[in-house]
Amino acid sequence: MPTTTRHKKLIIAIDGPAGSGKSSTAKALAIKLRLPYVDSGAMYRAVTLKAMQQGISFHKNFHDNKKLIRIAKSCRIRLTTSPKGAQKVFLDGKNVSEAIREPALTQNVHYIAQEPLIRREMVRKQQAMGKKDGAVMEGRDIGTVVFPKADYKFYFEAHSDVRAKRRHRDLAGAGMKMPINRVLEDIKFRDKTDYDRKEGPLKRAKDAILIDTSLLTIDQTVDKILQFIKR
Ligand code: CDP
Repeated sequence: MPTTTRHKKLIIAIDGPAGSGKSSTAKALAIKLRLPYVDSGAMYRAVTLKAMQQGISFHKNFHDNKKLIRIAKSCRIRLTTSPKGAQKVFLDGKNVSEAIREPALTQNVHYIAQEPLIRREMVRKQQAMGKKDGAVMEGRDIGTVVFPKADYKFYFEAHSDVRAKRRHRDLAGAGMKMPINRVLEDIKFRDKTDYDRKEGPLKRAKDAILIDTSLLTIDQTVDKILQFIKR
């Protein structure tokens, strides 16, 4: 496989709602293309964890900007991926890969993700990561805000029932059992908060290629994307 500098710096943006298959696809794609994998959602989750550890009370109108920006700026977030695709997330040097997936934390992420000051800080960090070595970066606003000039942009969609089933299976695999209808409710709630927020909402960039993953396996999705990538 050619490994010129230009190839190394390719930016591939994948956006879409929860459970649309972004993470598994982006990880597999990053391995195939030998690019770093960046899960931007893990970064919002890490900031949420720090805010929870600092006893921030989440409620509809929490807007202590000074506190929030201090938290966002002080978070040292490091993402690592093994050659086989296992991802680890470190917050201030501590491995928080499992803690950030707890359902109780997932319910609070939207408070953090809607704060413009925090988003700007995360976007800055994500841009720095991508510029260094290129990336397969997945999230909600990668093709619209973080890398509007990405080399390739994809937007994933899938029926909410399918997304809930996938998420239910992932949670069970990680030992977190939750009734499927609760998972579906959570997904619908998160969809709404992702679409409705003012800054960096979930939106398909005009030039993003739309892929409905409802009936596709991860391998099929990766193959579909690879058809578009010219190296
Ligand atoms: O994996 P899942 O789809 O559950 O979500 P995630 O990618 O881990 O992201 C967690 C939350 O962070 C999402 O519900 C979004 O609200 C938020 N997020 C965001 O606002 N912007 C991004 N670029 C990525 C995630």
